[in-house]
Amino acid sequence: MKIPINVPNLDKKEIAAIIPILKEGSLTSSARYGGKNVREFEKLAASFVKSKYAVAVNSGTAALQAALYALDLGAGDEVLVPSFTFIATANAIVSTGAKPVFVDIFAENYTMDTKDLEKKITKKTKAIIPVHIYGNVSFIDRILEISKKHNLRVIEDSAQSLGSKLKGRHTGTFSDLGCYSMYPGKVMTSGEGGFIVTNNKKLREKLLMIRNHGMVQGYDSKIFGLNFRLPEISAAIAKIQIKKLPKFLEIRRKNATQLSQLISDFKVKIPKERKNERVNWYLYTISTSKRNKILSKLRSKGIEASPYYSRPVHKTPYYKNKIKLPITDWAASHVLSLPIHPKVSSKTIEFIAKSLREILNE
Ligand SMILES: Cc1ncc(COP(=O)(O)O)c(C=O)c1O
Repeated sequence: MKIPINVPNLDKKEIAAIIPILKEGSLTSSARYGGKNVREFEKLAASFVKSKYAVAVNSGTAALQAALYALDLGAGDEVLVPSFTFIATANAIVSTGAKPVFVDIFAENYTMDTKDLEKKITKKTKAIIPVHIYGNVSFIDRILEISKKHNLRVIEDSAQSLGSKLKGRHTGTFSDLGCYSMYPGKVMTSGEGGFIVTNNKKLREKLLMIRNHGMVQGYDSKIFGLNFRLPEISAAIAKIQIKKLPKFLEIRRKNATQLSQLISDFKVKIPKERKNERVNWYLYTISTSKRNKILSKLRSKGIEASPYYSRPVHKTPYYKNKIKLPITDWAASHVLSLPIHPKVSSKTIEFIAKSLREILNE
């Protein structure tokens, strides 16, 4: 038996929802506001995170690109971003012509180190992209203070943090633009997909154009854009998933709490919520110097523990940046995420904890 790190959670509701779309052949719409399912999903997404507007796109990467294009970032600009993230965050910056400048993280919760952030601001810096990694909320109050002081824009990479909150407010809604992913491994899915939220009407209008080649009424491109449209089938799936999301998040929290209790005496660093923070428990991540040994032993028992991310972005062959990021390097060799998604039962959580205990006692 394999226990995957994350899996899509679909049932007959999603299957039933896509059949009429296939029968009608209404697969997508290049109209300004998109197809029926896209428009309905956007209403649900905006209301879920309590933002004025949501614009659906066809991936989390596209969400980041659209957000960067909407802020007119490009050649000659620098964007501050953690290296300890999925590569998409940096790649989206490169796709605009701007340069990603890598910032270290705090060991506390693996999010952007605000002291290092401030040190890396130059005359060319235009924006900051904090990543709420694993669902952990970045030190967003401080990041916003720094952004105001230096007149920088902020885009939140909330791909992993849909449902996470700080002081009751959703990640993705603190800044100009919040970007989410609906990839199958995420807390909810549409197959491929993503969305951007904003309270700014002008940015919303711009995002609608960017997702559709910069057009407003068709063949009248006013700004640069691409095809970032979310297919109707994906939007129909997303509509059902976002309604199920509160339940999914509740089970993740229950599983995380149970696992934390069972491993509280282990010599590993256990994830904790800080005061006023409510994480979505997308990835339950421990850190330990015995990471590689634990990883292979858990895997031999069918527990698909995963090291997100054993190679930080700045160390990939494409970026091969010589910058020194000590905490990022430490995290890359110490972190290990354990399965706690809604399909993991309480018995399985016990099995994971027991297996971990055996390995640590060897
Ligand atoms: C932090 C982060 N940013 C961006 C993305 C990109 O999202 P997508 O895979 O939907 O393009 C992901 C997820 O894959 C992610 O984890």
